[in-house]
Amino acid sequence: MDEYSHIPVLLNEALFYLQPKPGQNIVDATLGGGGYSMAIVRSVGEKGKVLSIDLDQDAIENQTAKNVKLNVKNLTLAHGNFAHIDRIVKNHGFPPPDGIVADLGLSSYELDQGGRGMSFQKQEILDMRFDRSAESEDARWLLNNKSEKELIKIFENYGEEKFSRQIARKIKVAENDIKYTTELYQIITDSLPKPVKHKAAGSARRIFQALRIAVNHELENLESFLPKAFDLLAPGGRLVVVSFQSLEDRQVKQFFNSLAKGCVCPIDFPQCVCGKNPQGKILTKKPVTASEQELKNNLRSNSAKLRAIIKN
Ligand SMILES: C[S@@+](CC[C@H](N)C(=O)[O-])C[C@H]1O[C@@H](n2cnc3c(N)ncnc32)[C@H](O)[C@@H]1O
Repeated sequence: MDEYSHIPVLLNEALFYLQPKPGQNIVDATLGGGGYSMAIVRSVGEKGKVLSIDLDQDAIENQTAKNVKLNVKNLTLAHGNFAHIDRIVKNHGFPPPDGIVADLGLSSYELDQGGRGMSFQKQEILDMRFDRSAESEDARWLLNNKSEKELIKIFENYGEEKFSRQIARKIKVAENDIKYTTELYQIITDSLPKPVKHKAAGSARRIFQALRIAVNHELENLESFLPKAFDLLAPGGRLVVVSFQSLEDRQVKQFFNSLAKGCVCPIDFPQCVCGKNPQGKILTKKPVTASEQELKNNLRSNSAKLRAIIKN
């Protein structure tokens, strides 16, 4: 395995809102290259504990080796899906966390080095699964087995691609099954009207993102994760989420708003009858985005949005 490289995005901002302190117990739901986890390990010190989760076995192996090399004793690793964070935390006998952080999406390793067909700039088999140990459907299966209508829905909903219909049509009339990233890229280019063919890379980026989200059930996982993570937190605990696309950010925003609001009575009720109290306080009125300096140094940071909430 190549070195698992990933430059963490919004790291200082995530630490600022998570505020890990000596002796605390923190869960990093998305280990990746371990940038966040190692910074948290340093902050909680020897008396604190960190539990880091990732769906990608390569991420876990890379950090296991680093733990040995750097003699890190208080960082536990769990190969699993953060959608099951409740079970993972329980199975590891981890105490109620003082903080949970999730830095969503994919790592640079998974995009560029992992050999998973996540990038259209390399010829690779269209796999796209974060977890290759699971017997789940990959991108190749999806492209060749989903109906034209289903593909349009995926491309429109998860990629917001204007030419979703034309691209789905071309995929379905292709003579052979599509196997490689380069074949899909060619189909995308061929589907675009002449005047916008030079923008094929933009369409490909959106279509590849949409496929990745569908293959990995990313929005469904986030939906399961958010309430479970908030429930797990100790009183005064903090939940910090960094997302990279608008559908995810909307989910996080709406979930945090519902926790902070409490009452769910219709607005025309003269007084509250549901009796629900706010369960948390939002720490980020607006989503936090990357500084100019970070934007200059790391292109990936330009779509990052961080939101944080503290449990009452
Ligand atoms: C942006 S990277 C995290 C980078 C990390 N913060 C760092 O500093 O290196 C996102 C990671 O989340 C993992 N991931 C995506 N969906 C997941 C899920 N449902 N459960 C667990 N890990 C997931 C990916 O495999 C990837 O390693």
